Amino acid sequence: DLSTQVAGVKLQSYLMNASGPQCTTFDELERIAHSNSTAIVTKSCTLLPREGNPEPRYQNLPLGAIQSMGLPNLGYQAYLEMIPALKAMNKPVVVSISGFSINDNIKMVSAFQKSAVDLIEVNFSCPNIPGKAQVAYDFEQTDQALAAITALGDKPIGIKLAPYFDMSHFTAVANIIKKYPVKFITCINSIGNTLVIDPYTEQPIIKPKGGFGGLCGDYVKPIGLANVRAFRELLGDEISIIGVGGIKSGIDAFEYLLAGADAVQIATCLEKEGPKCFARIEHELKAFMAAKGYTQLSDAKGKLKPM
Ligand code: DHB
Repeated sequence: DLSTQVAGVKLQSYLMNASGPQCTTFDELERIAHSNSTAIVTKSCTLLPREGNPEPRYQNLPLGAIQSMGLPNLGYQAYLEMIPALKAMNKPVVVSISGFSINDNIKMVSAFQKSAVDLIEVNFSCPNIPGKAQVAYDFEQTDQALAAITALGDKPIGIKLAPYFDMSHFTAVANIIKKYPVKFITCINSIGNTLVIDPYTEQPIIKPKGGFGGLCGDYVKPIGLANVRAFRELLGDEISIIGVGGIKSGIDAFEYLLAGADAVQIATCLEKEGPKCFARIEHELKAFMAAKGYTQLSDAKGKLKPM
């Protein structure tokens, strides 16, 4: 039994897609709905439709990927209009919002508050828009944005955080989150502004931003685990945590459970393997837990043992 809850929304299982690959168009979202993903999470949307950054903007790496997509999406109104059809697929729907300003986010959150969506995930951590800072690395802006977007309705709001690397940053962000009715956090986003160089061509391997892009996959799993663990300890059990970063096996998913995740999201593995990854990883997680005698997620959630 992998049933769980995020912000009071019941989920039949622990695995869902991350806002990222293969969740931009209605057809892609329908394939997510028909997979074992326990929810349907939409690609981060902006006020207006976007083509995204110039290609090549995504490259696989031996242990993950680097990407600078630049928020290609259909614009928030398209997702607003899709919600009734997505809800008819009988899974919770999570919308991801990524405005370029607090006002953008107010406008989009207000619109989705009036929709049938189950959870609203506000992306504070897209690293790929030239000239735009990641909100999650600006604590004053994080505080102001949360004050604005948590006051717009009763549907649970969560935020997608960038990875942090210093204990003082975990504490500072946790203290801001605690000031507002934030119901869940999703961590981590890709590690922003990394550079992969092809020594043969003597060039970067993606075109946007001089080759700087978000690092994803196996490379980021220890960082994701630390972020989930740190926030679980600082935020207590009232705020749900969705873990993301480098999950491609049932054992990876189990490690996030030990760190304290209520659910996890999968992006790079979804991009590489397609939506059938959810059934495989679910099967592996169930087998690994069964071998340990664990029958439900609460048997292990947050129970990382001290050395
Ligand atoms: C994109 C990348 C991200 O890591 C993110 O959080 C949002 C958008 C992108 O480039 O599309």
